[in-house]
Amino acid sequence: MIKKYVFGQPLETGAAVLEIPASTDTCSLMRLTQSEEGVSLFYRMEKEDVLYGLGEQVRGINKRGFSYISDATDDPIHTEGKHSLYGGHNFLIISRRHKPSFGIFIDNPGKTVFDAGESKLDELRIQTGCDCVIYTVEGESLKEIAKQFRELIGQSYIAPKWAFGYQQSRWGYESADDVREAVSGHHGHGIPLDAVYLDIDYMERYKDFTVDKEKFPDFPEFVSEMKERGVHLVPIIDAGVKIEEGYPVYEEGVRENYFCKDENGNDFVAAVWPGKSLLPDMLNSKAREWFGSKYKWLMDQGIDGFWNDMNEPAIFYSEVHLKKVMDEVISMKDENMGLHEFFHLKGLVEGLSNNPEDYRRFYHNMDGVKIRHDKVHNLYGCYMTKAAGEAFDKIAPDKRTLLFSRSSYIGMHRYGGIWTGDNASWWNHLLLSIQQMPSLNLCGILYAGSDIGGFGCDATQDLLMRWLEFGIFTPLMRNHAAAGTRPQEVYQFENIPDFRNIIRIRYGLLPYIYSEYMKAVFDHEMYFRPLAFDYPFDAHAPYVEDQLLAGESIMIAPVYRQNASGRYVYLPEEMMMVRMKSLEEKHCEVLKAGHHYVDIALNETVFFVKKNHMLPLAVLDDDIRNISGIDKNRYEWVGFAEDKAEYVLYDDDGMSKNYTPKEQWTKVTRSVNELDVTV
Ligand code: GLC
Repeated sequence: MIKKYVFGQPLETGAAVLEIPASTDTCSLMRLTQSEEGVSLFYRMEKEDVLYGLGEQVRGINKRGFSYISDATDDPIHTEGKHSLYGGHNFLIISRRHKPSFGIFIDNPGKTVFDAGESKLDELRIQTGCDCVIYTVEGESLKEIAKQFRELIGQSYIAPKWAFGYQQSRWGYESADDVREAVSGHHGHGIPLDAVYLDIDYMERYKDFTVDKEKFPDFPEFVSEMKERGVHLVPIIDAGVKIEEGYPVYEEGVRENYFCKDENGNDFVAAVWPGKSLLPDMLNSKAREWFGSKYKWLMDQGIDGFWNDMNEPAIFYSEVHLKKVMDEVISMKDENMGLHEFFHLKGLVEGLSNNPEDYRRFYHNMDGVKIRHDKVHNLYGCYMTKAAGEAFDKIAPDKRTLLFSRSSYIGMHRYGGIWTGDNASWWNHLLLSIQQMPSLNLCGILYAGSDIGGFGCDATQDLLMRWLEFGIFTPLMRNHAAAGTRPQEVYQFENIPDFRNIIRIRYGLLPYIYSEYMKAVFDHEMYFRPLAFDYPFDAHAPYVEDQLLAGESIMIAPVYRQNASGRYVYLPEEMMMVRMKSLEEKHCEVLKAGHHYVDIALNETVFFVKKNHMLPLAVLDDDIRNISGIDKNRYEWVGFAEDKAEYVLYDDDGMSKNYTPKEQWTKVTRSVNELDVTV
């Protein structure tokens, strides 16, 4: 049951798609109060209560014990003391042991604070703005609550099937030859690859919808050369538009008043990669339509996938703020600066970027209504992605286009996926990415993944290998690294055959991953789930923070610690452990319910099949280059059955929007002795 409570005059964010009449009762689940500062929610937590949700955030799967702030922030240092990352995902489930659990969604694109036991261990306090809609979701189980919420916010985005293959990215592929080298590097070692990303290096002076002709001569020809080699190119699009006379995107936008304005109605100037830039008013429907239409220029050259970036929006500095800071700095004396003067200077300079004051300095024209940016801050990236998604429906209506974004708000999951931004090559960021996945799925974001190997800092061979062993289960499986870091393509390290084996395991698992992804989309379910969602009566499951269910048949328990020779795994029921050194080298063993220490060598992928479940595993040719090499008639069935197991396999052409109707999904049944891979 979903209830809706309306406060003030909320803005239509588009997060919810179901029409629900507003309730007039007093909410019995949490104490809701209204004051001049906004709306507050209070709930006293029982000892056993567990909090799930909040999408892309720091810390664990159970959100208890810290404060999280929905306030999209471009901050690459994702340490556990931070309160905000790139998104605003205000959905939380309060899982209760002795009473029915419930969900709560705060639909307000301004700042929302979730104090989930930081101030007081047993108190959950949520503080949001005066104008908002609050939904409560009650259901019989965690799965039920999640499903109802997902129905409320509408069907998740469907990526083309090739975007489930292995993808390589790097900020620093400076030319077509650099890209060619990355492709050859993979193919030369027999490593399948479906896409290579173009970071800001492909643009002419970092201008959106341009290609640097010197570094990438004859771009359409290059795109088709790559397609012939089986590789899609995926260019980045940034939010800021460079101010440059003669640059049509800038000139058109200025002429039509499509950019955000300052208080006096002048274009608001903020700097990003291209230097001084303007921010398209993504909250204005005309500006959105205009910005979206610009993607066509690249699509006409053969491009069929994009990643939207810097759309919190990130601001290196604003023109006004920089001037203030420079004036103050120039007036300072540079002799023998004392403690206070020095830290003041440091603060001034560091405070230039993504400054909250700047977010109060510009305005949107929301189709006639002037609205200050900070009130709708968390919607900017979401609406940039909506702009692109809606444009794709017109430009290529019958085809799927890959699209994901850095910043997001609930509702964006209908237009694209996300990647989790600028993580680092740290072991605890591998754990963080494991923990973020179910929380994102709960908020509708199914097409998701982290920068495998880590974006910032230098990846080591073992970290990259372990990260890939988790990454083979994430729908978006992309290796990405920052400029200036150690080369991170798998072939840059030793033991390339091991890397090849891991990536081939992904391709072997692809029919299962794709099928589970699509079923999760159509059935409004979670592809990644915390253990307690499938084992609600298990006393230990709610506290397992480093294992996930991935699709209906398997549980994963990735290794995420440096030098670990294995790890402890908790099995809520008897399961079959599958251990793989390669797609061809599998070993199965049944493990009883309970705690186990499992040895997992660096080059081993391990997963656990639930009882009476099975999954398809594609048998691959030795020279498979990309997803098109998977033969639908050559699957092995890996299963753990008492007498028989059943699996519903979803498949389609992977490109068009002619999705297979539910009645035609293939139900496969195998008895114990018909399974190809079992104990
Ligand atoms: C941002 C993105 C990162 C990208 C870089 C350069 O930091 O998050 O993925 O590589 O910008 O475009």
